Amino acid sequence: MNEINPNLAIIHINELATLDSKYGAPRIGKQMSDLAIISDGAVAVKEGIIIFVGTTNELESITPLTKIEKIIDASNKLVTPGFVDAHTHIIFNGSREEELSMKLAGKTYLEILQSGGGILKTMRDTRTATIEKLVTNGKKILDRMMKFGTTTVETKSGYGLTLESEIKSLRAIKKLNEEHPIDLVSTFLGAHAIPPEYKGKVDDYVDLITSEMIPKIAKEKLAEFCDVFCEKDIFSIEQAKKILEIAKNFGLKPQLHVDEIVDTNGALLAAELKAIQTGHLLKSNEKGLQAMADAGVIATLLPATPFCLMLKEYAPARKMIDLGVPIALGTDLNPNCWTESMQAIIALSCYNMKLSPAEALTAATMNSACALQKQDQIGSIEVGKKADMVIFDIPNHHFLPYQFGVNLVSEVIKNGILVVKNG
Ligand code: NIG
Ligand code: FE
Repeated sequence: MNEINPNLAIIHINELATLDSKYGAPRIGKQMSDLAIISDGAVAVKEGIIIFVGTTNELESITPLTKIEKIIDASNKLVTPGFVDAHTHIIFNGSREEELSMKLAGKTYLEILQSGGGILKTMRDTRTATIEKLVTNGKKILDRMMKFGTTTVETKSGYGLTLESEIKSLRAIKKLNEEHPIDLVSTFLGAHAIPPEYKGKVDDYVDLITSEMIPKIAKEKLAEFCDVFCEKDIFSIEQAKKILEIAKNFGLKPQLHVDEIVDTNGALLAAELKAIQTGHLLKSNEKGLQAMADAGVIATLLPATPFCLMLKEYAPARKMIDLGVPIALGTDLNPNCWTESMQAIIALSCYNMKLSPAEALTAATMNSACALQKQDQIGSIEVGKKADMVIFDIPNHHFLPYQFGVNLVSEVIKNGILVVKNG
């Protein structure tokens, strides 16, 4: 082997979960359980890219460790790819902590929305906010996400619901992506709620989305994906289909929020539209899930949402895995369900959806990278990929859900740079 000249190396890693993509991607069924672990592992990095993955002995045999600028000893620690949070709503102003008491008193999500709260309350706060304020808010969230091990985040507009404020939100995402170490993937979600001006005239709002918003957003390259909240009394299957077909013609990739509260056959729609990823899916029927498996649509499961809505039911993750539906994970961070922590999502997935720790880690890294179509660059620790990695102060991946409710991150490396050092 030729000598290599890394500027950073992590050595003596007790458990290095590489998630290497020998199966192709995304991983389905039993493949989700194989983390491709290396014991006494080592990773070497040069100019932000991974140039070596193997054992510490193998690294020593090709390069003298003393020559490496920065060495991190990860004895007794776990190293994983950086978390990819595949579904969030971080661009908003204000907060909705008072709705927690309403939910505790038995009010449902749709009742709160219909009385002008929920998304509509956040819409009012967001419309009046400056872009600078949205960027400041977003930065605070991203800083915390990074401390908890997240290195790539999908995020959406959807609290403006006018042409101007949707554009303002997407520009805030663009600015954050330029200024923050975390990489952002931008999604247009004009179809998040029916704005008050269009009450009773939903088709007119759909026309505004398809004839004005999508063309302008596509022209300015402000989003990679287009999403729709398809739900009873929000946007119908037909409206979602219209929006996403037009979005596709403008080069925006389709994704959906479906079957969160009621089964409207959203999973079937996701399969029919060949959505890249689809969120929630709590109530989806088996036919729809099978169609998603056949079409390769990724199910992005968001267990913090039923947790915050105090529901007993979670997405049927085990059934999905049996059917061969690829599973990714996201926080769904929004003012109704506010957590920056993918570690919390892994714990919720295990305790409430019965994913194994290995399946949850695969979903939060490799499969979430696939949900953003970024698997060529991120999601695993392999030569040639971005050096986005997390060092956890735990001996193995079983601890990720086992020791819960605390931050287990010791260091975060983003693009080969040490961006977080806890403790
Ligand atoms: O994915 N369900 C729709 N959208 C978000 C919630 C947005 C909000 O309540 O502010 C979600 O859960
Ligand atoms: Fe969401």
